[in-house]
Amino acid sequence: MKALTRNGYGSPGIIHFKEVPKPQIAPDEILIRVHCNTVSRTDCGILGGKPFIFRFFVGWPKPKNPILGSDFAGEVVEIGPSVKGYNIGDRIFGFNDEGLGSQAEYLNIKADGPIMHIPSKNTYREAAAASEGAHYALNFLRYLNLPKGKKVLLIGATGAIGSAAIQILRSRGIRVDAVGEGAYRDYWQDRGVESYWDYKTEDFRKSGKQYAAVLDAVGKSNFFKCRKLLQKGGAYVSSELGPFASNLWLALIAPLMPLAFVKFPFPKDIPASLKEMQRLMAAGKFQALIDPVKLKPQDAEKAYHYACSGEKIGNLILDWDMD
Ligand SMILES: NC(=O)c1ccc[n+]([C@@H]2O[C@H](COP(=O)([O-])OP(=O)(O)OC[C@H]3O[C@@H](n4cnc5c(N)ncnc54)[C@H](OP(=O)(O)O)[C@@H]3O)[C@@H](O)[C@H]2O)c1
Repeated sequence: MKALTRNGYGSPGIIHFKEVPKPQIAPDEILIRVHCNTVSRTDCGILGGKPFIFRFFVGWPKPKNPILGSDFAGEVVEIGPSVKGYNIGDRIFGFNDEGLGSQAEYLNIKADGPIMHIPSKNTYREAAAASEGAHYALNFLRYLNLPKGKKVLLIGATGAIGSAAIQILRSRGIRVDAVGEGAYRDYWQDRGVESYWDYKTEDFRKSGKQYAAVLDAVGKSNFFKCRKLLQKGGAYVSSELGPFASNLWLALIAPLMPLAFVKFPFPKDIPASLKEMQRLMAAGKFQALIDPVKLKPQDAEKAYHYACSGEKIGNLILDWDMD
């Protein structure tokens, strides 16, 4: 089979699109024919081994799995003898932030692994794009108590995490203002975002508004810059550690901060995230934002350069069915 491989950590130039042995399944595994993946910021971390501490999970001194890919959507083509709950032809999606080796024509995975059935009305592309960013977005919200009717400022509306966060917040009846790429103002206002700022030309901090939480899904702000936007008891959450890892240590002293505080969302419970995304997709409450750029596995180097640039729109799909 064909796969995207690499021999060590590095830049997109080290990726090879090459023939590798098709995986054999263990008794408790299923074999999936992969239809598509996303190329995400998690994949960039796995490719580059950055931050360095990530290598203790993904492999040190060399990657554990030479095949890239952390998410997929595909169909079951073979089932191990001890597997229950799956049939040939089932449509599945999955994600693992430590990598799955899923950027390949076939993938073997444990049937009790981080996988879920795709709702019948959703495409493979939609399902693949409802995993990585959505998991981190859900993770943000696990750390907060945001009842219906509260208002949140979301920074990074056109990223994978931010675009998922907006829809998850809206599905919970939480009001959202957002900051993102200017061309997506109408897109988001049609989907319930109340005020929208173009991050390149407008300063959301001058609005005079206050929020129950500021969620920075692209890690471009910091607590001190956003403090005045928070109501008393409001929370600041970012997808990045921030300058001098400030989001981490501010989160540690959060109990000592009487006015507004920082939460740092250590990612956890991927199966719960996939289950929630399956539920939201089936209910018609989630439609992933997908980058219009079309890419096939042969374009891997270009795809990774683009994803790692921080300029993609939502989720960048790598399509294994495209000729
Ligand atoms: N903590 C974790 O576990 C974890 C896990 C995964 C990712 N991350 C981090 O989370 C961040 C977001 O990841 P992602 O995949 O969602 O991002 P992404 O998809 O790469 O986000 C790109 C989008 O953000 C927009 N953008 C750039 N600067 C902005 C700003 N100052 N304000 C608002 N929007 C801005 C870009 O606009 P343009 O098109 O104009 O460039 C682009 O549309 C990354 O920094 C990533 O490293 C953290």
